[in-house]
Amino acid sequence: MTAARRPEFAKSRPGSRPGETIRVLISRSRVRQRVRQLAREIRRDFPKDSLHLVGVLKGSVLFLADLARELGGEVSFDFLSVSSYGKGTSSTGVVKLIKDLDVSIEGRTVIVVEDILDSGLTLKYLLRLFEGRKPKHMRVVVLLDKAERRIANVHADYTGFTIPNEFVVGYGLDYDERYRNLADVCILQLTRSSAKR
Ligand code: PRP
Repeated sequence: MTAARRPEFAKSRPGSRPGETIRVLISRSRVRQRVRQLAREIRRDFPKDSLHLVGVLKGSVLFLADLARELGGEVSFDFLSVSSYGKGTSSTGVVKLIKDLDVSIEGRTVIVVEDILDSGLTLKYLLRLFEGRKPKHMRVVVLLDKAERRIANVHADYTGFTIPNEFVVGYGLDYDERYRNLADVCILQLTRSSAKR
């Protein structure tokens, strides 16, 4: 194989380990198409606003990067980080802020960008936090909604796909910090231990 072709070969390998099986749930082309539609919907609702995208590290990074490129007009973005709280095991439901935003959201049109809405506890925490900071408008866009897992009474204003209660990886979502680089959203099946999301 020539050096020029090697990167293609590398991209087709998912990087799974023994005992881990992945299959595509949402292909990269469906993701791309839906992200484009979501961007159009958001821009249609706020045609003239400067949109301030707020991403939750780390899962939302790829989605936010693609969404930002599909949104025309003035766009800025910022990130924050919250603690994971042991989902699927002995969840306390307590979310803690690890890294705050760099700039104020007061008076801005804020779009909270999440890769996945699961129990909704993270989003509930974020909405309460951000509402106190007096944005001009605040909306939530999620790529994936695991609606049947919801505990908190929250919803997204824009949803990419409603998905079944399966452990998903890829397009930013991880298992043990791996698989975030997959272009497709995939279902991970573990044959040697149980999944945590
Ligand atoms: C994921 C996702 C959301 C949260 C949603 O983050 O990015 O922030 O879980 O779950 P919830 O609705 O049950 O609160 P995760 O904790 O896996 O961290 P990561 O983004 O760094 O992978």
